Amino acid sequence: MDLNQLQERLSALRSETVDALAGVASMDELRRLESQTTGKSGTLGAWMGTIKEYPPDQRGEVGKALNQAKGELTKLFKEAGERIKAGAAAAEASKASSYDPTLPGVRPPVGSFHPVTLVQLEVEDVFRRLGFLIETGPEMESEYYNFEALNIPKLHPARDMQDTFWLTNGKLLRTHTSPVQVRAMERHGPPLRVLAPGRCFRYETIDASHENTFHQVEGLMIDRHISIANLIAMMKLLLREVFGRDLKVRLRPGYFPFVEPGFELDMSCLICDGGGCATCKQSGWIEILPCGMVHPNVLRAGKIDPHEYTGFAFGLGLTRLAMMKYGVADIRGLNSGDLRALVPATRTGGPTLLTC
Ligand code: PHE
Repeated sequence: MDLNQLQERLSALRSETVDALAGVASMDELRRLESQTTGKSGTLGAWMGTIKEYPPDQRGEVGKALNQAKGELTKLFKEAGERIKAGAAAAEASKASSYDPTLPGVRPPVGSFHPVTLVQLEVEDVFRRLGFLIETGPEMESEYYNFEALNIPKLHPARDMQDTFWLTNGKLLRTHTSPVQVRAMERHGPPLRVLAPGRCFRYETIDASHENTFHQVEGLMIDRHISIANLIAMMKLLLREVFGRDLKVRLRPGYFPFVEPGFELDMSCLICDGGGCATCKQSGWIEILPCGMVHPNVLRAGKIDPHEYTGFAFGLGLTRLAMMKYGVADIRGLNSGDLRALVPATRTGGPTLLTC
């Protein structure tokens, strides 16, 4: 480009810069624009590098024009910087003057939660939105509700699946939350949607993954035409809410006397997404909960006609879920009273949970 063209381009650059500066609101934006314009590899910088391409007798003129433009542009940027700084200071000042000391403050989240409490509240929240009642049953339970009403008669080998703490008064410490199924059927009748979280006990030897005291949450839905498809849909929804993403599920046959058919539900591994890793023992799947269609004998025990109604039930291990979600490697830490097992309210969106 000859000297005339250069001069035209310089004056165009000047007016483009004036326009652009009018829209710049922050110092970051300003610096970016400045380096694109007068910076070494910016527009003007590139033109500076072309001086030696002009005939020797023109180089003086070219240099002068470029330097003058640079001076003008630098001044424009400096003024814009001052304007932005002054604006920010004024905004701060007006914020300070509109401060109302009589307004109530924001209450900071206080305290901490046990990981099991957190997952319990989360699961309750999901099912409450689906119209489930939250029920609790007694921890000291009768043999009838814990076993017989659940289609596990005396001397049935299935009683050995759950080693039981028997009490001297003839009762027992419930081995699962399933007794709440029949209690809820009796209390409410069909149709029924119930969620029953609670503490359970088994006569177990304690190690890193076994405790004699743990938490489960029982789910039960009874209505006309309830099918396995409803069960699968509900379980997918639960896992999506708890883990924050869609997970694949699969059902394997599983035996529990109070469901028929009974299943073990697996979800795709959270770590490898089904590809196979150490956590899922290369299978791509993680066993997450047992479930099934409520056995007709259990419906009968709850005074519900199995020819008219069907239902599904599931038993989610809350303790295990909390361990997975909060990365707790040793179950013993959770019941030890060790405060380091707790999750500070500041990490949980505390105030909303505190109101639960
Ligand atoms: N109550 C069973 C247990 O603790 C779990 C379960 C619940 C299985 C509901 C099927 C349906 O082992």
